[in-house]
Amino acid sequence: MPKPPTPLPATSSGTASSGTASSGTGSPEDASSGVGAGTRPTQPAQRPRVLSVEDLGVRLGGRQVLSDVSFHLCEGEVAGLIGSNGAGKTTLLRAVLGLTPVSSGRVSVAGGRGRHQAVGYVPQKVVLDADLPVRARDLVQLGQDGHRWGLPLPSAAKRAATEELLAGVGALHLADARVGQLSGGELQRVLVAHALAGRPRLLLLDEPLANLDLHSARDTVALLDCIARQQGIAVLMSTHDVNPLLGVMDRVVYLAGGRAATGSTDDVVRSDVLSSLYGHHVDVLHAHGRVIVSVGDDSHSDDGCDAVPASAGVLVGGPVHRGAGAR
Ligand SMILES: Nc1ncnc2c1ncn2[C@@H]1O[C@H](COP(=O)(O)OP(=O)(O)O)[C@@H](O)[C@H]1O
Ligand SMILES: [Mg+2]
Repeated sequence: MPKPPTPLPATSSGTASSGTASSGTGSPEDASSGVGAGTRPTQPAQRPRVLSVEDLGVRLGGRQVLSDVSFHLCEGEVAGLIGSNGAGKTTLLRAVLGLTPVSSGRVSVAGGRGRHQAVGYVPQKVVLDADLPVRARDLVQLGQDGHRWGLPLPSAAKRAATEELLAGVGALHLADARVGQLSGGELQRVLVAHALAGRPRLLLLDEPLANLDLHSARDTVALLDCIARQQGIAVLMSTHDVNPLLGVMDRVVYLAGGRAATGSTDDVVRSDVLSSLYGHHVDVLHAHGRVIVSVGDDSHSDDGCDAVPASAGVLVGGPVHRGAGAR
């Protein structure tokens, strides 16, 4: 079993899993200091790499959705995959999972046990009927057995492992609740426990903060940061809003027009870098510890992204500060 993180207090408020695989290819600074708030003072750059994406290209429906995307992720790092609707976030995550074929480049996940085990995945949309007779503990147990060959774990050991996983995400009290009756934040925790059941080295989450209130979003970010720091799992999560991740990100992968700018928040979330990425002027402003990215009215953009009106380019929400369990 992975060593679970110190359970967070159960508050208001977390999916599939998938080794070495190749598909052919510090505490936050004062939030008022602007983008600096998003960069940890200590970058764990010397840690072993868990994920390497090199010159990745993906074509879908005859269209180049991603081009020359390169970045890497080390043990225990938290990275934000940032981009507006249609930028290619889900496509990139699916390419890492091996669910979407790559047309060029290479994705490598360290591990050697098969990608379905080395990578935990929480997809964007999980809609469960309120009457579905599946408890939180059943869902997490599925994560332990779903890909396993041979005899299942003895039931007592399985039960203990399930409860350890649920406790690790602060959701032990939800073990017997029906999954379809959980709040968004509660379900997110259970889905994270499910994704961790295969003991992954890399955890991917697609828009985990979508549809969560601010409080639940902060709890979720703090939980994922805690999992990365305490278990050494690399976490890559997509979001269209960089702000909730400002206090926890070691690395940003910013997508626009099918291309990516990567590096620390300070290096990437800048007017010159984002203007170059989008192919037109982008303002990056700092106010009250938040970053405001104004992409501008580019309704005739031919960069492959959905048009992003100025109002939609205003990113709001406060940064989450690392919890006590963090390094
Ligand atoms: N199976 C597919 N066939 C053709 N185009 C696709 C397919 N899946 C996604 N796309 C297109 O690829 C682009 C990126 O989509 P997606 O990765 O879902 O973006 P995001 O997750 O950032 O919103 C969009 O323009 C979308 O329409
Ligand atoms: Mg998506």
